[in-house]
Formats: sequence, structure tokens, C-alpha cells
Amino acid sequence: MDKRTFLKVGSIAGVGVIATPLVSTLLGCGRAPGPTESSADNSTSGFTLPELGFAFDALEPAVDQETMRIHHGKHHAGYVRKLNAALTNHPLSGQSLEAVLAALTASDTGLRNNGGGHFNHALFWKVLSPAEAHNDKADLLAERIQTSFGGHEAMLEALTKAAGTRFGSGWAWLVQDANEPDRLFVASTPNQDNPLMTGIVESDVQGRPILGIDVWEHAYYLNYQNRRTDYVTAVLSRINWKAVAGLMA
Ligand SMILES: [Fe+2]
Repeated sequence: MDKRTFLKVGSIAGVGVIATPLVSTLLGCGRAPGPTESSADNSTSGFTLPELGFAFDALEPAVDQETMRIHHGKHHAGYVRKLNAALTNHPLSGQSLEAVLAALTASDTGLRNNGGGHFNHALFWKVLSPAEAHNDKADLLAERIQTSFGGHEAMLEALTKAAGTRFGSGWAWLVQDANEPDRLFVASTPNQDNPLMTGIVESDVQGRPILGIDVWEHAYYLNYQNRRTDYVTAVLSRINWKAVAGLMA
């Protein structure tokens, strides 16, 4: 990784690269397989599919069991498998997922789709909760939502709008500003792009993603068909705000 990319990754990680773990580390994404691993590390090298942390049917009726089973076991597992294959003998081998994503350009189609797909889904599983949305958000997150949006409802409204107006497949995000950690904002990206892809997405989208809502049809079609807004509303009622707070820098 060159100096510019290193600085970018440091910036994305938030204030203090050393003090603040990368989001991908907190999500258990693993890291790129590569020659920098010692033979002793080989058993743990490569990106891995994180466990859901709850049963496939735990989110019903908001998200049905069959959708969860296919989404995690087929779609997400496929992104991980193709990502590892694309990184074999690649210059980015051995790097964190943040470093891989920050180094991409628009023409890196395989890494863009599968690296994004891995990170985005790992984040999605992490912030979903089997319980109804609760109000025990960490104080700091609540404060930052208040100062950034004027209140929790306004933030949910912005997320619902971003998810609803994304044309085609993509994601809606709650993002922490890398330069102003107290500032949170809502953004949206197409396909499997995300705010960590600093060589691809616009500067006003870049930052540390702490919540992602999948609006690909594979996330909701079995249960909701074309009713994306109903799905987004249901999913937003199942967010684990404690987990979201834990991903902030
Ligand atoms: Fe998905």
C-alpha cells in the first residue's frame, strides 16, 4: 500500500488509527489471503463469513427465515468466496478489507462487487437485532444523532428516504464523518459500493459506515415483492443501536 492509500485508510478508520479498530475487524471479516502470512497463520488467512449471531428465523416477521438463509448462506458466502479467489496472488493480498476497498478504482469490477458485498453484508448482520428496536443507545451515539439530524426520528426518516429513492440495487448508510467524528450523515450507494471506496464514491459519501440497509431485491422480494418501503420500515424497527454505537470511532 502506498503512502497516500495508507493515509486514506487511516482517515477512514477515524481519529487515531491505532486507538480505533477498523470496522471490518469489529465485524469479523478476516483479511485478504496472501504471501505476507507466515505458514503458522495460514489456517486463519483469507476473508471469512461471519456468523449471524442469531437464528435464521429470529427476525420474523420483519425478515423471513428463507430470505435470511439464502441471503447469508448463498449471497454473502458467494461474495466471500469470489473475493478470496480474486485476491489470490494479488498486490493487495494480506491487507485489511478497508485497505482493499480504499485502493479500488471503478474498473476493479470483481474486487469492487465482492469486497463491497462482503463488508456490506457483514455490517448488515451486525446491526440487526432479534428484539424490537430499543432505546438503550449508547449516550454518545444518541448525542451525535441529535446534533447531526435534530433527533432520532429525523435520522430514521433520512435513512428511509435514502433507501427508498436508491434506483435499482444498492445500500442506504449511516456514516460517521472521518474528519469530524461527532458528525453523522446518511448516504446511499449503488450495487455493492460503500463509503469506504474512496477511489470510487463521491467525497460527500466517504466515511466510516456504522449502519447499512440492504435494498437489493434479494433482501426482501420473497416476503415483500416490490414493497421496498415496507421492508425498510420493518428492518429499521430491528436495529441494534448498541451494536451501531460500538462501531463508531
Ligand atoms: Fe444482500
